[in-house]
Amino acid sequence: MTQDNKRKDRSILITGGAGFIGSNFVHHWCNTYKSDRLTVLDALTYAGNKANLASLENNKNLKFVQGDICDRTLVDNLLESEDIDTVAHFAAESHVDRSIIEPGAFIQTNVVGTFTLLEAFRQRWNNRSQPQSDRFLHVSTDEVYGSLEVDDPAFTETTPYTPNSPYSASKAGSDHLARAYFHTYGMPTMITNCSNNYGPYHFPEKLIPLMCINILLGKPLPVYGDGQNIRDWLYVEDHCRALDVVINKGQPGETYNVGGNNEVKNIDLVEQLCQLMDELAPNLPVSPSKELITFVKDRAGHDRRYAINASKIKNELGWTPQETVEGGLRRTVQWYLANSDWWKPLLSQEYKNYYAKVYS
Ligand code: NAD
Ligand code: TYD
Repeated sequence: MTQDNKRKDRSILITGGAGFIGSNFVHHWCNTYKSDRLTVLDALTYAGNKANLASLENNKNLKFVQGDICDRTLVDNLLESEDIDTVAHFAAESHVDRSIIEPGAFIQTNVVGTFTLLEAFRQRWNNRSQPQSDRFLHVSTDEVYGSLEVDDPAFTETTPYTPNSPYSASKAGSDHLARAYFHTYGMPTMITNCSNNYGPYHFPEKLIPLMCINILLGKPLPVYGDGQNIRDWLYVEDHCRALDVVINKGQPGETYNVGGNNEVKNIDLVEQLCQLMDELAPNLPVSPSKELITFVKDRAGHDRRYAINASKIKNELGWTPQETVEGGLRRTVQWYLANSDWWKPLLSQEYKNYYAKVYS
């Protein structure tokens, strides 16, 4: 139970709150802390989608602002006008394949954007006499730790950073900035490094939604390389609960790893999705759907394995993931089956152009 009757209400700025994890977090927070105020700042890039927040449209405690985290004047104004005491920073360019094609936007949003937010928050925090409960949560990734071999121990919070893609390098840069703002200024930053998330509102370009949608459309299921790469899958609701305990109980200056305890090889995951779709979806264009599996050219610099050791957040803050990969995949497949109105409009011309570049 994360609700604490004695806790002070927060006014929280959620950057990237119209994206996949950010919007799940907004739903979680609105359901859990009904008297907190939420301000979502989101540029609505290709990955941002106001439909992710549609069911909260009439929530009086939620305000949506379309804008760029690199816009310092806008950020300053929002911190002031909304009396922000907490930042949950999700906004980022988040897809490795796009970072390989066009890295510039990753440096701009992930590094410059994070710097802009940190600077704006520092100024405000100083002017507010540095209240004890203020927090700046920087949401990051396990990809900053680089790639593991099959027998290596999982990443801990002290694993050296070895980012391998422009995406993970830009996230590593932003993590270092967040860490430095605590070390130098004492600003109450915290960092979470989590493994691969999955669940509702996941943009179609990522592995799990891409496979679900391609199965429904009868399109090839492109598995990179030999399909033996391993990811540690974390159901997005479990991640949101972890961020909740970090904001409410975490120590400023600390980093917390968040993982699902669910290491799966890509090919096994895709086969599981095929089985679930064969069971749950009526009239698939190709059945059994695993006939659609196609091995394609590997991703450049493809990390072999990610695995998270989440003992610190368990021992210090009492968080553990609750969803199994079998249960989470079933819920996710059911969600994509029930929500074609959500994903069909996302298969835009821009998406088709991107798809052709990566998979041609
Ligand atoms: P996403 O791509 O689905 O959403 C990103 C959101 O940020 C979008 O709504 C987009 O419009 C917004 N955005 C992008 N640039 C912006 C800018 N300059 N100003 C304001 N808004 C901007 O990403 P996600 O999967 O929800 O990831 C959220 C965070 O979690 C990211 O920081 C990512 O690095 C991190 N993360 C994600 C995963 C994962 O599996 N998805 C795993 C580990 C860490
Ligand atoms: P992805 O969802 O892009 O997340 P990340 O690169 O951040 O781990 O990819 C998950 C894994 O699936 C990764 O090993 C790359 C692989 N993959 C494919 O094999 N085919 C695909 O079409 C995609 C998008 C990913």
